Amino acid sequence: MKKLLIDCDPGHDDMMAIMVACAADDVEVLGITTVAGNQTGDKTFFNARQVLTMIGREDIPIAKGAMVPLVRPLMTAAFIHGESGLEGVELPEPKSPGLTLSARDFMVNVLKEATEKVILVPTGPLTNIATLLISAPEVVDKIERIVLIGGGIRDSNVTPGAEFNILVDPEAARIVFESGLPITQVGLDVTNKTLLTYEDIELITQMKGPISSYVGPLLKFFADMNKRNFGINGAPVHDALAVATAIWPDVVETEFLNVVIETRGEFTLGQTVTDVYRITDRKPNVQVGVKVDVARMRSIMIETIRTLDAKMV
Ligand code: RIB
Ligand code: CA
Repeated sequence: MKKLLIDCDPGHDDMMAIMVACAADDVEVLGITTVAGNQTGDKTFFNARQVLTMIGREDIPIAKGAMVPLVRPLMTAAFIHGESGLEGVELPEPKSPGLTLSARDFMVNVLKEATEKVILVPTGPLTNIATLLISAPEVVDKIERIVLIGGGIRDSNVTPGAEFNILVDPEAARIVFESGLPITQVGLDVTNKTLLTYEDIELITQMKGPISSYVGPLLKFFADMNKRNFGINGAPVHDALAVATAIWPDVVETEFLNVVIETRGEFTLGQTVTDVYRITDRKPNVQVGVKVDVARMRSIMIETIRTLDAKMV
């Protein structure tokens, strides 16, 4: 049984990530924490609770985390996820109020009580994860691996060098990448290949199930915004690939490389500087995703929706 803690900023692809984890056999989602990123900390917390209600999993504990990055002002992504952070359809009101505990305190408690090691899957900026690692070293040995979505070897999506999750909080990312913990980085080079096409989205919409009826229009909105902003012809469900990689590591092929985070560059702030050709003497510290089984990932997402639809009937 894989034990996951998901730290997210829903966000349409964060929603898909939560769904993949909840549909998978042999996975226990120990909890969800939220972070400011795609939208403000209040909105991502609300959205995550809405997603749990939509899939009938309001039993999963959820705690709100950082409202701002460690040292910089917050940058959000309404241009992709809309004003609410999860535009495209009116979702049901959340059934669970969530915990009053902070994300950091909740993660500490979960790790302290865990009888087996836990995989952390951050799908937003790394503010909460960095806070945990810095403030609670006593629980770090309970972390099996961090499987994160962020950065890229060559791909970026906010500046020519940086991807959103890393750029929002580069200082937090640097703490995580320098932690010495086992890290798998699922970056844009692989996530941009895991598209749900408009045909896939129509197929999902036509399922007309209790969850697919929501997910179809949500993915249509997300695809339209990605088309408008990046010319991408579909919905790149970045975060779902991180969860899938945590559960089925062979979905993504990785190389053990050195990755450092640029925290001062005038033009390169937030870049995951990846020593692909091993030309520096910096030691490898990250399993970097270099290839993805696209067909397998598409079927994981389609099956996820079918499975959750069936569970809700
Ligand atoms: O760059 C893509 C990442 O930024 C995804 O996690 C998306 O949800 C946003 O957080
Ligand atoms: Ca995200």
